This record gives sequence, C-alpha cells and structure tokens, in this order.
Amino acid sequence: MNERTFVIIKPDAVTAGHVGNILNRYEEAGFRPVAMEMRTIDGEFADRHYAEHLGRDYYAPLREFMTEGPLVALILAGDNALDGVRELNGVTDPSKADAGTIRADFGSSVKANCVHASDSPESAASEIGLWFPELA
Ligand code: PPS
Repeated sequence: MNERTFVIIKPDAVTAGHVGNILNRYEEAGFRPVAMEMRTIDGEFADRHYAEHLGRDYYAPLREFMTEGPLVALILAGDNALDGVRELNGVTDPSKADAGTIRADFGSSVKANCVHASDSPESAASEIGLWFPELA
C-alpha cells in the first residue's frame, strides 16, 4: 500500500554531515521524498510536534536539542512507508538499535538519535498537517 510518513533528520545528523547518507538509506529502500525542507524550529513549534511528551522528564532537554539548529523535515512515500521507515531507523536508543539501522550507524544517544518518524497513520496525518499543511 502506498503510504506517506513524516520524517525529521534531526539537528545532530545535520551538524555531523549525515543528511545525504540518511536520505540514501530511504531512497535505496524505495521510499521517495514528496516534500523536503530545512528548517530551524522554535520551542513553541517543538511543543506542538511533541505535544504528547510535554511534561515528561526528558522533554526539556529534547526541546532544547530540537531547536538548537537546522533540521530537515520531509514526507516520504512508498509501500508500507510507516513501518518500513521505522525499521530502517531502528529503535529509539541507538545503543540498542539493530546493526545497519540508521540510529545504530549515526545516532549517539536517546536524545541525539538522528531521526524521527511517525509511529501510526494518525500521527503521520497530524505531523504532515503541522509541518506541511499545504500537503495535508
Ligand atoms: S519513538 O521512536 O518515537 O517510538 O520513541 P519514544 O521512545 O516513544 O520516544 C519519543 C521521543 O522522545 C525522545 N526521547 C528522549 N529524548 C531525550 N532524552 C530521553 N531520555 C528520551 N527518551 C525519549 C525520543 O528521541 C523520541 O523522539 P522522536 O523525535 O519521536 O524520535
């Protein structure tokens, strides 16, 4: 099934020069960008994106990290894009991610884990609506 998912290449990966490598993983697996933009977000926008994490003990450092520099926001499309992209990303903690996943190869901590991807059709719709309202 052709699906769309929302992805962020996070500021740590931009700073470290991994944008091209990460995009290559997605494209090699058959996923295609249908929107892509480099942005620096402010705290208020981060709060909207991470609404369900507000108030968690890790949220303040996560908010600071996500707003400290440019990131790449994109929509990827392809067969089974939601699950397929999350498999390519690996689990949240890079030290526990399977070898060969993006987070195992380019992430350095649970916070600086280089990528985000929507975790359900509902979150994809809501995140696409927030980041790319013209494509919702
Ligand atoms: S996931 O991949 O979305 O299922 O990850 P999840 O475990 O639900 O965590 C959600 C996001 O919170 C971030 N997170 C943290 N940031 C900083 N410090 C700590 N300890 C921490 N724990 C979780 C995690 O990177 C996820 O960010 P996104 O952008 O959703 O991947």
